[in-house]
Amino acid sequence: MASVVYVELRERRYPIAVGRGQIEQLGEWWRQTELGRRALVVTDTNVGPLYGPTVRAQLEAIGVATTVATVPAGEASKTIERWAQLQYAAVEAGLDRSSVMLALGGGVVGDLAGFAAATFLRGIRMVQVPTTLLAMVDSSVGGKTGVDLRCGKNLVGAFHQPSLVVADPDVLRTLPAREYRAGMAEVIKYGVILDAALFETLEAGAARLTDPSWAVLDELIANCCRLKAEVVAADEREGGLRAILNFGHTLGHALEAATGYEGFLHGEAVAIGMAYAAELSVRMAGLSPVERDRLLNVLRAAGLPIRASGLGVEWAHVIAAMSLDKKAADRVPRFVLAEAIGRVRHGVEIPPDVLKEVWDAIAE
Ligand SMILES: NC(=O)c1ccc[n+]([C@@H]2O[C@H](COP(=O)([O-])OP(=O)(O)OC[C@H]3O[C@@H](n4cnc5c(N)ncnc54)[C@H](O)[C@@H]3O)[C@@H](O)[C@H]2O)c1
Repeated sequence: MASVVYVELRERRYPIAVGRGQIEQLGEWWRQTELGRRALVVTDTNVGPLYGPTVRAQLEAIGVATTVATVPAGEASKTIERWAQLQYAAVEAGLDRSSVMLALGGGVVGDLAGFAAATFLRGIRMVQVPTTLLAMVDSSVGGKTGVDLRCGKNLVGAFHQPSLVVADPDVLRTLPAREYRAGMAEVIKYGVILDAALFETLEAGAARLTDPSWAVLDELIANCCRLKAEVVAADEREGGLRAILNFGHTLGHALEAATGYEGFLHGEAVAIGMAYAAELSVRMAGLSPVERDRLLNVLRAAGLPIRASGLGVEWAHVIAAMSLDKKAADRVPRFVLAEAIGRVRHGVEIPPDVLKEVWDAIAE
């Protein structure tokens, strides 16, 4: 059985179907959503061999002419060059305005294929079949697509909402454990920013946080999608509320930048960023030390890092990167702080001496 979350947007709504075995129902979802008769499936070299045949069989069984384009796995595929290759692949596959691009993979494939769909023939329909926990709870919901430039991540892109998302947690069994843990950081984030009950589920299941066969995982993923969908529906183009999704990301992004995007997975950097934001929250937003410790305990149970010690990252690099963050205003970093588990405020400016003091505490 799938949980279905509808994303309500001004111009239309679309379903996110979450449930074990749902990849085997893709054809049925495709039919119900009245999608086109021709598709380009974009996948990567890890995911394609595992799930490409199922997706192709599902589409061909309902008469959809299907071509598969495979890019090398990893962030290095999120480039203008790969984007251009996909535009040519779409022409060769005979795609027209009624055709569909389907992203089968993690956030890299989702962002790349999403941007390819946003631009081909000025925009064709897009389906996301996310295969990482991060892609299921975060990147496949919200419509942000794009590629990196050599000088920075996600610098070229477009908002392009999918017509359908099918998330099957069974595929997470083949995901490398480290990638799974990194995705769990985003799940924990939703609990802190919006949903104390979700956070309590994570606390109660602390021993299962690294286990993709955990029975409540489907429900957790559907809840995260629902929360992100609500935030996105309220703030599709990132004017205000959407900023709360950046809890832990101000320092997280800075750590990724300071380590040349090689030291950490995104979720690991965000976990340290959440530990940092939690301590700032105790000092500046009235978060109780008990609630801070609850967050640190859940992060630990999920196998995520909470300290920045031993990384060789200098404060000067970190503060410089935080001041360049897209959400900084006049080069002053802004933070999302927790007032309690489940409640945050955003756009908070923090005195530089407090930023440094708390950094020293987590980096010592
Ligand atoms: N658009 C958005 O709103 C948004 C939000 C967050 C992150 N992102 C982007 O997402 C990207 C990161 O995504 P990611 O963490 O999913 O990484 P990823 O797409 O690189 O996937 C991680 C690794 O896992 C492999 N993999 C994926 N699914 C698998 C499976 N089921 N079994 C076995 N292997 C599997 C991939 O081949 C890859 O090697 C970044 O580029 C980031 O900028 C976008």
